Amino acid sequence: MRIVVIGGSGRTGRLVVEKLREADHAVVATIRSVKAMPDLIKLGAEVAMLDLDSSGFDEIVHAMKGADAVVFAAGSAAGESSELDRKGTLRTVRAAEKAGVPRYVSISSLGASTGLSTRGMSDEMKDYYRQKRAAARHITGSTLRWTILEPTDLTDDPGRGRVTMSEAALEGPPVSRADVAAVIAAVIDEPRADGHVLQIVGGNTAVRTALRKVVGGQG
Ligand SMILES: NC(=O)c1ccc[n+]([C@@H]2O[C@H](COP(=O)([O-])OP(=O)(O)OC[C@H]3O[C@@H](n4cnc5c(N)ncnc54)[C@H](OP(=O)(O)O)[C@@H]3O)[C@@H](O)[C@H]2O)c1
Repeated sequence: MRIVVIGGSGRTGRLVVEKLREADHAVVATIRSVKAMPDLIKLGAEVAMLDLDSSGFDEIVHAMKGADAVVFAAGSAAGESSELDRKGTLRTVRAAEKAGVPRYVSISSLGASTGLSTRGMSDEMKDYYRQKRAAARHITGSTLRWTILEPTDLTDDPGRGRVTMSEAALEGPPVSRADVAAVIAAVIDEPRADGHVLQIVGGNTAVRTALRKVVGGQG
């Protein structure tokens, strides 16, 4: 498959590119800075320069032409407005529809779909959840086949290939970005993941087994 990874230079995005390349997918990594280019090219990805705040809609559509799926792994940095999480999602969902890309996989945050209360959270986190929930409405209201991942706090620990996954509300330890990337690679290969929102925390079930337990199919 040909897959566009939005935010390919991010900590999770880069690992997604790596996993998809290991699985022999053709990958287009979108980046904002040329500095990220050599590393992604070394991984065997094509790169497309896109800034979701300033690039024209047609540029986003152009980067997606011929792709089988889009993975949204971009996100606002701590201390920044979370508007990118909603606006960037809306622009890439609309661009995927226009470019004829059938499938969209996105990273949101634990509990966004299961009613996690934001009472007691900082204003920044409240806004972050508001934007992620609005982003999810753009995705689920689109014509695309979609899967949304809702991981808990992310770490840069090495991947273990193991997680705990559920569609119901879940609590548990942090999960590594590498294991979230492994879940994305598994989701890309699993059409039954369409229409599912996956809660993900650290755990001990092999990624593909955990996914099949939630979406159906043989472990
Ligand atoms: N951090 C957590 O604990 C946590 C928990 C649950 C879910 N998540 C979600 O997981 C996803 C990945 O998180 P992460 O911590 O791995 O991300 P990250 O390392 O902060 O990377 C964010 C990526 O988004 C890109 N980006 C930011 N603004 C952009 C814009 N205007 N246009 C295009 N690209 C833009 C960045 O590009 P540059 O490299 O150019 O800056 C970077 O590639 C995010 O959606 C986040 O909300 C995070």
